[in-house]
Amino acid sequence: MKNILITGGAGFIGSHVVRRFVENYPDYRIINLDKLTYAGNLANLKEIEDRPNYTFVKGDICDFELMCELFDRYDIDGVIHLAAESHVDRSIKDPFTFARTNVLGTLSLLQAARLKWEAKPEKYEGKRFYHISTDEVYGALEFDSTLFTEDTKYDPHSPYSASKASSDHFVRAFHDTYGMPTIVTNCSNNYGPYQFPEKLIPLFINNIRHRRPLPVYGKGENVRDWLYVEDHARAIDLIFHRGRVAETYNIGGFNEWRNIDLIKVIIKTVDRLLGNAEGTSDDLITYVTDRAGHDLRYAIDSRKLKEELGWEPSLQFEEGIEKTVRWYLDNQEWMDNITSGEYEKYYEDMYKNR
Ligand code: NAD
Ligand code: DAU
Repeated sequence: MKNILITGGAGFIGSHVVRRFVENYPDYRIINLDKLTYAGNLANLKEIEDRPNYTFVKGDICDFELMCELFDRYDIDGVIHLAAESHVDRSIKDPFTFARTNVLGTLSLLQAARLKWEAKPEKYEGKRFYHISTDEVYGALEFDSTLFTEDTKYDPHSPYSASKASSDHFVRAFHDTYGMPTIVTNCSNNYGPYQFPEKLIPLFINNIRHRRPLPVYGKGENVRDWLYVEDHARAIDLIFHRGRVAETYNIGGFNEWRNIDLIKVIIKTVDRLLGNAEGTSDDLITYVTDRAGHDLRYAIDSRKLKEELGWEPSLQFEEGIEKTVRWYLDNQEWMDNITSGEYEKYYEDMYKNR
């Protein structure tokens, strides 16, 4: 494969994937297609924007004609599909946008790939459609030692996870119906640089810096399995090149944290790096109304990926969180640019009645 279309490459995970592919594969042409919604930010890709093997195209995956045109223009032979609406709280307020982008947008991309690849003499030979999904499609676990495996039944609870589940089904249907060489991966919560400050970790780092309340949903008891974003990008690289067609791989950190315990680590780390006395920001913790349909616990069993392809998370959480907090504190201009404009309105809408 030479011409790789990466969708959603200006977002959080996508920007790490684009950077990795542009830097590691000078022989590939990387085409980054992104609509630049509120979550897309070309500042995330400053270091590689002038590289000869990189092209950015602003566009919407729902625009089927544009998708077909891109396959023709760049002779695409591999797709890594990350473009999506990704924030659960937004999906609760506006589910239609999630169905449109995550379901219809994925279908538009699949159909364009199918028509263009089937029209070639070699058809699907040497082609690959890799869809990035989430562990949220599996629903929620109890507070016990069970883990989501690749065989766990889908049971999504939020409009976000329902839309991702639907898109996963379309991807697998394109393999089963048309023989498209697809792969799906389901990953746990990512953290690291360039994440939009609506998600827990960057939101709380930024709020501590501004001495704003830290809105903890419910009792703060929900559990998430956290993975450093560059470890996810490394897994994507490995699976794109060596994963088996039609397979599903779970990707996770084997790193479960109760929200309130994680929040205390964040507070401690930010206070230390800002030179504050320990405990300075503890008073910012504010318990607020729980998220509707809030999934209790996510935890991923990624043994299949380890056994087949040798992938494991490389960073210990303590190291990852230190790197992450440091990055946000050192890149305040990035954060300030993002939080100017519409951000205050978003924040007020999301938190005013909680
Ligand atoms: P993000 O919200 O940071 O970025 C999404 C990107 O997609 C943005 O650049 C946005 O502009 C773009 N986009 C949105 N709608 C588009 C459209 N209609 N056409 C073209 N581009 C569009 O998301 P993220 O956190 O980087 O997540 C990337 C992918 O990984 C998503 O598919 C998400 O479901 C999945 N995922 C995320 C996590 C996580 O913890 N963040 C974990 C597992 C899986
Ligand atoms: O599990 C993978 C998923 O992780 C991805 O598919 C999603 O795209 C990504 O957004 C993330 O979903 P979560 O809902 O788990 O992430 P979020 O950062 O929104 O919330 C993490 C936990 O923190 C969750 O239990 C809700 C809680 N929370 C979140 C926010 C924003 C709070 O207590 N307060 C908050 O203000």
